[in-house]
Amino acid sequence: MAKPNKIYLGTNTKMYKTIEETVSFLKELKDLTQDIDRNDMELFVIPSYTSLDRANQVIDSSFISLGAQNMGWEEEGQFTGEISPRMLKEIGTKVIMAGHCERRHILGETDEEENKKVVCALKHDFTALLCIGETKLQKDQNISDEILKIQLKVGLKGVTKEDAKQLWIAYEPVWAIGVDGIPASKEYASEKHQVIKDTLVQIFGEDIGLSIPVLYGGSVNRDNAKELIEMKGIDGLFIGRSAWNATNFNNIIRDVMPLFQNK
Ligand code: PGA
Repeated sequence: MAKPNKIYLGTNTKMYKTIEETVSFLKELKDLTQDIDRNDMELFVIPSYTSLDRANQVIDSSFISLGAQNMGWEEEGQFTGEISPRMLKEIGTKVIMAGHCERRHILGETDEEENKKVVCALKHDFTALLCIGETKLQKDQNISDEILKIQLKVGLKGVTKEDAKQLWIAYEPVWAIGVDGIPASKEYASEKHQVIKDTLVQIFGEDIGLSIPVLYGGSVNRDNAKELIEMKGIDGLFIGRSAWNATNFNNIIRDVMPLFQNK
């Protein structure tokens, strides 16, 4: 059975860190982690748009992949405020994130919009990172599984099996994210990862479906990272606050690497 053979560890710095702060964070993170074989780990950072160009100039992408927090789905046009795939390609971006819960729930983005971004990103040979997750209300209404299936089926509509090889999924329950978030229990997270894996198999077939990495995100920290990574179906961690300091991030990486390799 195909399953991801390396761990996926990344952070989104949201609307934090200036260019200078991003560059020094990336340099430190690279120095701290450069002994780790990248065949065993995909390490990625998704900084602000304004940092991406400089970050790409100073960081060797074979150590840290860089991603964009969002992307417009047209190559160019009358879309004030949007950044196109051509512009992101030009500055060496590798990963395009779509559907982070702050974009869905603060900025009102829909599954259909995330779908356009995912399809466009894959068409332009980026890796697409689609974030999904249920709200607290949906969890309380006991419809989390249905919500995840809808977010996947709509968000991945039109994605071919071939393109799906460049697809990553982050499961980030909305109630678990950020300063007010409550981290999901390892059992709950693993159960939802299974729902996601089953849905990916339904969409893309077993070989491709099971090879798509599914990362957990939402209040990951040094206390819960180890127990989460040991769970079935969790192929990596997508971390916010606890990864914005390079030493902290490196500590989490060192904690989880051996556990992932032995699972
Ligand atoms: P957090 O953020 O780890 O700070 O909860 C996660 C995210 O927003 O992806």
